[in-house]
Amino acid sequence: MRKKKIFLVDDDELIVMIFATSLRAEGYEVRAETTTDDIVNKIRSWFPDIILLDVNLPGMSGIEILKELKGFRAHIIMLTADDSAETAVKAMKLGAADYVTKPFNMEEVKIVIRNCLEKMRLEQEVEHLRKISCEYFEKEMVGESEMIRDLREKIERLAEARVPSILITGESGTGKEVVARNIHRLMYESECVPRREPFVAVNCAALPEHLLESELFGAERGAFTDAKADRKGVFELANGGTILLDEIGEMNPGLQSKLLRVLEERVVRRIGGKEDMPVEVTVIATTNKNLSQAMKNGEFRNDLFFRLSTFYLHVPPLRERKDDIPLLARYFLSYFCRRYNRKAIQKFSEEAEKCLVSYNWPGNIRELKNVVERLVVLENAAEILPRHLPHWLSAQSPAGNAPLDQYFVLPEGGISLEDLEKSLIVQALTRANHNQTLAAKLLNMSYYALRYQIKKLKLEQEEGEEVEESIK
Ligand SMILES: Nc1ncnc2c1ncn2[C@@H]1O[C@H](COP(=O)(O)OP(=O)(O)OP(=O)(O)O)[C@@H](O)[C@H]1O
Ligand SMILES: [Mg+2]
Repeated sequence: MRKKKIFLVDDDELIVMIFATSLRAEGYEVRAETTTDDIVNKIRSWFPDIILLDVNLPGMSGIEILKELKGFRAHIIMLTADDSAETAVKAMKLGAADYVTKPFNMEEVKIVIRNCLEKMRLEQEVEHLRKISCEYFEKEMVGESEMIRDLREKIERLAEARVPSILITGESGTGKEVVARNIHRLMYESECVPRREPFVAVNCAALPEHLLESELFGAERGAFTDAKADRKGVFELANGGTILLDEIGEMNPGLQSKLLRVLEERVVRRIGGKEDMPVEVTVIATTNKNLSQAMKNGEFRNDLFFRLSTFYLHVPPLRERKDDIPLLARYFLSYFCRRYNRKAIQKFSEEAEKCLVSYNWPGNIRELKNVVERLVVLENAAEILPRHLPHWLSAQSPAGNAPLDQYFVLPEGGISLEDLEKSLIVQALTRANHNQTLAAKLLNMSYYALRYQIKKLKLEQEEGEEVEESIK
């Protein structure tokens, strides 16, 4: 284990010598300074665990140094003269962890240091536990709507049967990955044994074809110019567990047929390799594409589709299970309050929940989660009211069902319809983070109709094809 580091600042050379010798003998790494020249920087750049700081120093008092170190992670122990109890109290108020008084009893100093280190260890442990419980939160599948219950039941059945492959479809942000992780958890995790089987996710849209191939199947040394060593592919890495092929609809047909071979024969061969290796993995593929359409267009192989879709799950969009919106919103609220250690916000007002429910959430659960995270970080009100919500949400209710002419009133001097259209399209694109599929939904038009309008209104300079789907 790394030696704990103690930084000592005292102008009394004798004290420095005694402290340094006896603390080093205890196994600590010690650095000492007898002047205050550039002291704050010296302390910060050495990353000590504990700082022993004399109160009476020439040039700059210990209290001033303490103030400058506010927020620094090390614990500070003040060294004070007997008659300055008042100063010690002040120091504690300013964030010092403890103090010892002169004349020093070395044993007492050692005990104070040990207690401080123990306190730090406990603090770190609490932080660690908080993180772990947050990670657990990430996998939780919240929802009590009919659709989610039905999905949960199917997940349980598929996991129990240990089916070899599953296809999960659904719009972006609906929770396909959460479903995949739940299947994995149910398949391999028993109540008392922590999960050891690997879960490896690969995003098929994120890598160019040749890289994706070596990522999936691995490569032998020299298989291509930059393959300097044998490399395991994710099928090998996930052996015994689950592999998640995210956005399978983006995989090119050549690679699709290689994948089909793995699924049928349950063996992989590294690129440039001569031997087949048996693999025992559950393959879960996800897509937000319409694969039937992709098959018609010749972009997705029929045989792979039929192989994958024997067991098929659909995750419905959030707007089709509005009952779950308040549950999810409350869940994310408590999650982010915990994660950011924010205690101010307690709940959504009834009106605010109505706004959340009446919005149609084109970005689904991910969008809802982001909205709540933003509120937790930026708002301080005990109760979230409609006015705290992003304006496109608060405009929903009760006016959400109001006739259009209550919102858009034609100005006295008239308006250019084309300019208005342009402006609304730009606003929709901005709100959808330039994801044209989502922007089209906001405008209640098809993706192709939006592409057509972007072209017609000459907006395409800013909105090239390549930005489409790039932000998820
Ligand atoms: N039922 C749920 N309960 C709680 N959180 C959820 C639920 N479903 C999804 N989430 C959260 O919403 C976010 C998006 O989910 P996920 O990544 O699974 O979506 P996805 O369908 O895979 O999206 P994409 O198609 O963009 O990859 C994640 O942060 C996830 O933790
Ligand atoms: Mg995903």
